[in-house]
Amino acid sequence: MIEWLARLFARGEPALSEASARDASALASLHAVSFRQGWSDGEFAQMLRERNIVAHRATVGRALHGFILSRLAAGEAEILSVAVAAARRGRGLARALLNLHLRRLAGLGVRAVFLEVDENNAPARRLYQRAGFREVGRRPGYYQQGGDPPATALVLRRDLV
Ligand SMILES: CC(C)(COP(=O)(O)OP(=O)(O)OC[C@H]1O[C@@H](n2cnc3c(N)ncnc32)[C@H](O)[C@@H]1OP(=O)(O)O)[C@@H](O)C(=O)NCCC(=O)NCCS
Repeated sequence: MIEWLARLFARGEPALSEASARDASALASLHAVSFRQGWSDGEFAQMLRERNIVAHRATVGRALHGFILSRLAAGEAEILSVAVAAARRGRGLARALLNLHLRRLAGLGVRAVFLEVDENNAPARRLYQRAGFREVGRRPGYYQQGGDPPATALVLRRDLV
């Protein structure tokens, strides 16, 4: 039953488009199952209404399969979150979302993009490395992990011009 549901959920090619405040609840749900620390529907709704937030989503029908979200300031952007539904991972969806997102940021005049990533997050590090991000800093103890020792955040940067 669970396998059948996973296959059904993963069927069809995702469509990529800009996300809006109407997607807040779906983004919050996917974020909650993808990260230790979730953000509420209200937090997403507020962010998605901000003029300096850019977000893209991947949908199949009405189902959200992935998203990416950045905040812009003074010609730079910070990627705040990216997630792909577990049943969809490993098939290039994050790469497609990131490529579209970076093109949009470049079109808005962003010159440099930053983000933080857990040094133990192999899929995310691979995603960013392949997209041309490079390490520009380290923040030891940045991610609290319940009983486990806190993990180091790598600060990555990619120039768009
Ligand atoms: C990180 C994440 C968004 C990647 O999504 P995805 O759609 O599976 O990524 P892609 O299929 O586009 O793959 C991106 C790269 O990661 C690699 N990758 C995917 N899963 C991997 C794994 N488990 N281990 C190592 N590398 C992996 C892919 O091979 C690909 O590299 P390649 O282009 O050299 O082949 C997804 O794993 C996720 O949502 N994780 C939970 C949330 C998270 O950690 N977000 C990032 C926070 S900074």
